[in-house]
Amino acid sequence: MAPDKQEDEQQGENVPYGAAAGEEEEERGVRPSDLSELLKEGTKESHEKAENTKFVKDFLKGRIKRELFKLATAALYYTYSALEEELDRNKDHPAITPLYFPQELHRAEALKKDVLYFFGENWEDDIQCSEATKAYVERIHHLGQHRPELLVAHAYTRYMGDLSGGQILKKVAQRALHLPSSGEGVQFYMFDNVTNAQQFKQLYRARLNTLDLDSEAKEGIVEEANRAFRFNMEVFDELDKIGATIPDEPQGDGLPLHDGKGDVRKCPYYAAKQAATGAAGCPYHAALALASRPEIKAVLAAIAAAIAATIAWYLM
Ligand code: HEM
Repeated sequence: MAPDKQEDEQQGENVPYGAAAGEEEEERGVRPSDLSELLKEGTKESHEKAENTKFVKDFLKGRIKRELFKLATAALYYTYSALEEELDRNKDHPAITPLYFPQELHRAEALKKDVLYFFGENWEDDIQCSEATKAYVERIHHLGQHRPELLVAHAYTRYMGDLSGGQILKKVAQRALHLPSSGEGVQFYMFDNVTNAQQFKQLYRARLNTLDLDSEAKEGIVEEANRAFRFNMEVFDELDKIGATIPDEPQGDGLPLHDGKGDVRKCPYYAAKQAATGAAGCPYHAALALASRPEIKAVLAAIAAAIAATIAWYLM
């Protein structure tokens, strides 16, 4: 048994992961043949490609439409439901047990809250599993039933990535979509049971290195991790294509940015209302936005003409 695994077990189940990770780190002399290193090195190119997909780059710049973010959340919901269903099923498998952290990592319940927030009570009828997500989900189920040890690659690709960029992505989404600061809609990014993501990743890497695998099995996991990256990129590309068909959304839930004088987001009434409900609220900007719509303009013109005619008749 590897020393760090032994140490974990001696610590017992209730020892916070931070303590275990700290001690593991002290002894950590990572070898190139360790699975954590093989994964990091072996997926470097895929990671770079994923970072450079248009969807991810746009997202990081805050260029994300609400409708697209909703679809991305639904895709994640299907993906994590499949992954966690298979991890649960295989939690006693020797390759899965050391990496099984339902309390700390599992995301399906958080994503359920997010889809409920975005799609409402009937979310189950209103969301669909896209083609690219379906292929990803089918692969996960196939592995869960036939090659559970390869689930390690999928868990690594998603959870390590989520722990690395979650906080930034959460803030970007909240700002771009004017989501409430209380966390509705971005539960996915919030790991309430992980107080120190860096330490937790350290523990996860140490656990990866305790798995009793020969070099061929490790290579298989790295190959599968690259496949997991590809599945993610296919979902991103699909989302990107869908995004191109979604008309530009007025920022701030229905109000054009530059109605009235200056930026509507600087209106304190609007900002406060946005923070509280996510809805547009300033009556001044709302009236201006309404008045700029062509059909409303026509009605206003007709009313003005009628008033002018009445005044002219009265004065005659
Ligand atoms: C622009 C987008 C992204 C940025 C800026 C980014 C950035 C980073 C950074 C800085 C780390 C290192 C964290 C550390 O060592 O503590 C990391 C790790 C990681 N990221 Fe990303 N990432 C992005 C997208 C993705 C995507 C789309 C995925 C997969 C779907 C992903 C999966 C991972 C994984 C698996 C790791 C762990 C690597 C390891 O230490 O073994 N990342 N990322």
